[in-house]
Parts: sequence; structure tokens; C-alpha cells
Amino acid sequence: MQENQHVAVLDFGSQYTQLIVRRVRELGYFAKLYSPEDLGEIGCPGAIILSGGPKSTSEPDAPDIDFEKLQSYNVPVLGVCYGMQLLNIKFGGSVKASNKREYGPAALKPLSKDDLYAGISDESQVWMSHSDTVQDLHEDAEVIATNQHGTPVSLKWPGCFFGIQFHPEVTHSHEGLQILKNFLEQAQELQSFHIDDFKREMIQGIQDRVGEKQVVCGVSGGVDSTVLAVLLKEAGVNVRAIFVDNGLLRKDEAAEVQKNFHRMGVEIETIDASQEFLAALAGKNDPEEKRKIIGNLFIKVFWDTVGDAEMLAQGTLYPDVIESASNAKSKASVIKTHHNRVAKILELQEEGKVLEPLAELFKDEVRELGSALGIAPDILGRHPFPGPGLAVRCPGAVDKERLDVIRECDAIFISKLKEHGYYDKVWQAYAGLIPVKTVGVKGDERSYEWATNLRAVISEDAMTAEWVDLPAQLLREVSQEILNEVKGINRVLYDISTKPPASIEWE
Ligand code: XMP
Repeated sequence: MQENQHVAVLDFGSQYTQLIVRRVRELGYFAKLYSPEDLGEIGCPGAIILSGGPKSTSEPDAPDIDFEKLQSYNVPVLGVCYGMQLLNIKFGGSVKASNKREYGPAALKPLSKDDLYAGISDESQVWMSHSDTVQDLHEDAEVIATNQHGTPVSLKWPGCFFGIQFHPEVTHSHEGLQILKNFLEQAQELQSFHIDDFKREMIQGIQDRVGEKQVVCGVSGGVDSTVLAVLLKEAGVNVRAIFVDNGLLRKDEAAEVQKNFHRMGVEIETIDASQEFLAALAGKNDPEEKRKIIGNLFIKVFWDTVGDAEMLAQGTLYPDVIESASNAKSKASVIKTHHNRVAKILELQEEGKVLEPLAELFKDEVRELGSALGIAPDILGRHPFPGPGLAVRCPGAVDKERLDVIRECDAIFISKLKEHGYYDKVWQAYAGLIPVKTVGVKGDERSYEWATNLRAVISEDAMTAEWVDLPAQLLREVSQEILNEVKGINRVLYDISTKPPASIEWE
């Protein structure tokens, strides 16, 4: 995607920075994230947003910005939280540092209904998260909104520079999206973002890079790799799609994935490595060890099958890229290394052999792209499924008997969700195993069997999740069918834990 007239978001390390990018795109404009040090390399932006960040401007290693360079772009600039404090200092004002962070809802009172606050209520809830507050203002600075105590929380400086002391990108800021929209409307000309244009550009980009080469890609049946494979096919690429059956899949999953890909006209090679995976996992209890074994074996099986790939395509998404890039550069506090960036892939990347066409998209945009590619809604609407499969739904050791029990319980739960019209309403749902035996009665006999946990959550990004208040009748039917049909289970539990503190998977 060209970087003309886009919205450049400079990342000062706030956990919400990606959300700013996403909101801008929701408003129909193209946005990209940059490190403030890369200010000189952001092309021709149409507007610039400085994000919030965890530091106080008074800390010795607080991130800075090349203000002259920023001004030289001559486009509207919005400083959010840390970004606003920094602008205030750059404009010659001062900031009162505090080591106490104020966090939570506040009332925003616009002093005029121009610019940022056109159409905004007289008093609007916004979400604050800051430690510094503005103290002295430069004579040309104008306070354009205060909080309920009359403290300035929004400033305007000459040259179309704005500052806000709250997060417009979070839903707790009730009119945040409108404020962001008002800011973007200050820009002369912004590049629009429509998934169809994006699709055309992506296909062109793929064709230019790939030519006649063969491209291998791993598919899992999940949304990202499916969209990737179909996109490559649409671009006319000679694609080799490989599906590794690790023996940790749900009931009939391998056959279903085969069938779905066939429907979309992409033939896949299925590698049945289930014995190998189960043998490697035998007797392993520790969740991290299980994950490592599965991850390493997947890489081995995949590369043994592929041999020398001319090119590799993977369904890395924008948040993954940002997460990995952040590892090196960002000021965000804790970040994990993403699993797509293992050594072999890094090596290929250095040789320019890795294709990541979805790397500028968010998850919901991938679904939109999938739809634009004609992928059926039932395929695009599949719940996320973890790479390590049922191994993370079976605490302790994994074996075929346990996996089979999970498969049966899960298939019953999922089919009941579909029957009751709940599958598309929940973000992710599954049945797992609690490998603890308890006493029960089955028929006339005493039973001593395991329990199954049902989990159904709604979430936006898997970082937080709420359990779903499923109808009692649905749960009753699921429980009855599992207890009647599944050998090895005499108890059904519904997990009512939010994330945090629980996670979605049990591991
Ligand atoms: P947790 O259990 O951390 O899960 O709350 C959050 C989301 O991530 C999925 N998940 C994974 N996905 N590889 C994946 O592709 C993994 O190793 C993995 N572990 C967890 C999980 O299903 C949920 O959607």
C-alpha cells in the first residue's frame, strides 16, 4: 500500500496504540504505525497522531520527537496523552509530573464546538490514563476542553496541532470515535481504505514478487491461512498448501478442512503426523513443555515435507508484525515473541523468500478480505482454534483416549450451539477435559470418571474475555447428551471465569 496521504501513528508505547490505527481504518482511512525515531521515513502523511505512552515526560529516558521534522510535514497533528504533554513542552509550555497515574472515566467539557468537538455533547465521558498534567501553556496555546474540575484536558496550538488528555480510541470514551473523525477531517486529503482496493493492490504486489515461483504455505483451516491460500490462488500463484494433522484436531476436522479447501478450489496436501505427535507428547504434563514439543515438531514435519521452498507464505497479521517489531523498538512494557518468527523463517526472510500479504491487516479486515474473495461465511465464521490444538484443552498428559473423549464432548457442545443459534454469537467455544476422576452413578452402577469443562466466551482480541450467559436449556441439552453418549465422563461443568484472571484455554 502506498504511503501517500495516510495517517501516521507514532507509537510512544501505549497499550492502546494499535487500537488508534484500527479506529482510523474503521473511519475509512489508511493508517500505519511507526516508531517516533522513524519520523523521517513516514513518506507523505496526510495527518499524524502521537500516541500515549507509559512514561512521564520528566523521566530521563522519556521518548522524544524531532519537532522541527514534525512541523515540516505541515499536516494536522494530534497528541494523545503522552503525545499531548510532549507537544505542550515542544510549544514552550510545561508539564507537571506526577508519579501517580490517574486512570478511569472522566467528564470532557468542550469549551467550543469547533474542530475536534463539532457535534460533541456539552459533557461527554472519556477515558483518562495519565500521570503528567499540563502546567504552563505557551501564549498561542488555547484550551479547548476541560474536565469536570476545570482542568485543561485538550489544547490547540497554531498550525493545526491538537492535544487530548484522554484515549479517544477506547469504547469507554463514548464520543471518542467522533472526536477522532473530527480530527481527521482537518486534513486536506486522506487516502481512503476500502478492502476491495486493498485486495487489488495485494494481488498485484503478490504477482510482482512471486512471478513463476512455487509458494508453499501451511494451512490450518483457520481464517488467516485460509484467506491467504485463496488470495494466492486468486493471484494465479503456483501454490502448494500443506495441512499437518498433528493428532490434536477436533472431531472430523481433517476431513472438514479438506472439504472446505476443495470447495474453494485450492487442493491441499494433508500430512498425517498424528502418531509422531502423540508419541512425542506421551507422559508430558507440563504445559510449556507440551507447547514446545508441538511447536518444534510442527516445524520439523512441515520443513521435511517442503524440502527446499522457493518461497514461503504465511498468514502473519498486522498485530503480529507490530508485536515483533515492538520487541526491538517499542516502549510498551511486556511483549512476547511471536511464533511466526522462528529461526528458519528468519533465515528465509533474510533471503527475501517470505511472503506475508496479510501483514497490514487486522483480524476483522482479514474476514472482510475473505468475503471479498468469495469465501463462504461458514468458513470465515469459524471460531479461532489454537495451534497446539486439543493439547491446551487437556491439562496434564495427552493421549488418544483423552483426546477422543474431548472430541466427542466438543462435537456435542458445538453442534448444540449451532442448533440454538449461538455459534455465531460467541467468539470461541469448546469442551475440554478435566482429567480428575470423581464418583457418580451411571445406570445402576457406581461410576468413577472424568469431568468435561464447557467454555464459551466473547472477546474482541483474545486479550480479555467474558463468559457467555448461555441459555439454561442449551446447557441442559448439552449436559444430557454428553452424559448419555460419552464414555468416560460423568460430570459437565460450565466455566464462568473471565479473562483475566483466567485464560481462555486451560492448558
Ligand atoms: P488464552 O488461553 O491465552 O488464549 O487466553 C487466547 C487465544 O489464543 C488462542 N491460543 C493460541 N492460538 N497458537 C494459536 O494460534 C497458540 O499457541 C495459542 N494458544 C492460545 C486461544 O485459543 C484463544 O483464542
